[in-house]
Amino acid sequence: DWTSTNFINSTIHQLQAHLGNDKVILALSGGVDSSVSAVLINKAIGNNLTCIFIDNGLLRKNEFDKVLKGYEHLGLNIVGIDAKDYFYRELAGVKGPEKKRKIIGKGFIYIFEQEAKKLKDIQWLAQGTIYPDIIESLSITGTTIKSHHNVGGLPEKMNLKLVEPLRLLFKDEVRYVGRELGMEEHLIMRHPFPGPGLGIRILGEITPEKVRILQEADNIFVSRLYEWNLYSYVWQAGVVLLPIKSVGVMGDERTYENAVVLRAVTSTDAMTADWARLPYDFLAKISNEIINKVKGVNRVVYDISSKPPSTIEWE
Ligand code: XMP
Repeated sequence: DWTSTNFINSTIHQLQAHLGNDKVILALSGGVDSSVSAVLINKAIGNNLTCIFIDNGLLRKNEFDKVLKGYEHLGLNIVGIDAKDYFYRELAGVKGPEKKRKIIGKGFIYIFEQEAKKLKDIQWLAQGTIYPDIIESLSITGTTIKSHHNVGGLPEKMNLKLVEPLRLLFKDEVRYVGRELGMEEHLIMRHPFPGPGLGIRILGEITPEKVRILQEADNIFVSRLYEWNLYSYVWQAGVVLLPIKSVGVMGDERTYENAVVLRAVTSTDAMTADWARLPYDFLAKISNEIINKVKGVNRVVYDISSKPPSTIEWE
């Protein structure tokens, strides 16, 4: 039978046997998968693992600092890189979701490679890939449903061997493992967050100003979910910035500003999802707060679509 204790013990043994004295590099995303992967590999090979955390300018508000601080105490050897400007330049004028994904994925590889070159004798690349990532990247009809940037690409290009200790696990199993490894509950229970980040929640072209608007709105939504004890009822939540403006009134003046969508779903594996039945009072409060505090937003709507057919992300 599968237990997290058995899984951890056998994985640590396998990692030690496989990796020996080799050096491993891992890209930390701040999410559960990559961090559980990092802690597990760190348990097996210690400081032979170096973690890289890249700020691509599409992270949640204050996420970069929070992750760097939060992971210090886990004993991980982490390098943080601020690459915001690079990503904004590469993404300027680009509108299509898959094109944006490709650019963000490629940019990520580029920045990551620059850092990897500074470290010596790296032979392995570790990734936090889990089972649903693999399934979703498989082709059923000859076309990929969506490209997941944490599957494929990096290792071939960098001539590194791939180590993916969580590739057979579902999300709930990853969480059991993290808990067993002594990771804090707020890290374990973090909602999933896509690799391309806010980049696929800003529909159409990405600009630093749109990122600011989305970060502010998203921060209000997620912080209030915590405060109302709704965070763990929800599988994943975030705000989407629409590429349309609508009319509003503010005092005596007409406004013509952005609309945002609140997206919150319940799920067990992200393959199917239902929209979360959040309390009306909560939604009312979030809507007021976003419209009052986030400059550039005058309308908030709630997404009541389930997956399938509607995906969790809008792009
Ligand atoms: P969808 O939108 O397909 O999302 O229902 C399912 C889960 O996958 C995440 N997602 C991504 N994760 N790179 C990622 O690392 C991506 O390009 C990507 N697209 C979607 C999404 O946030 C949800 O958890």
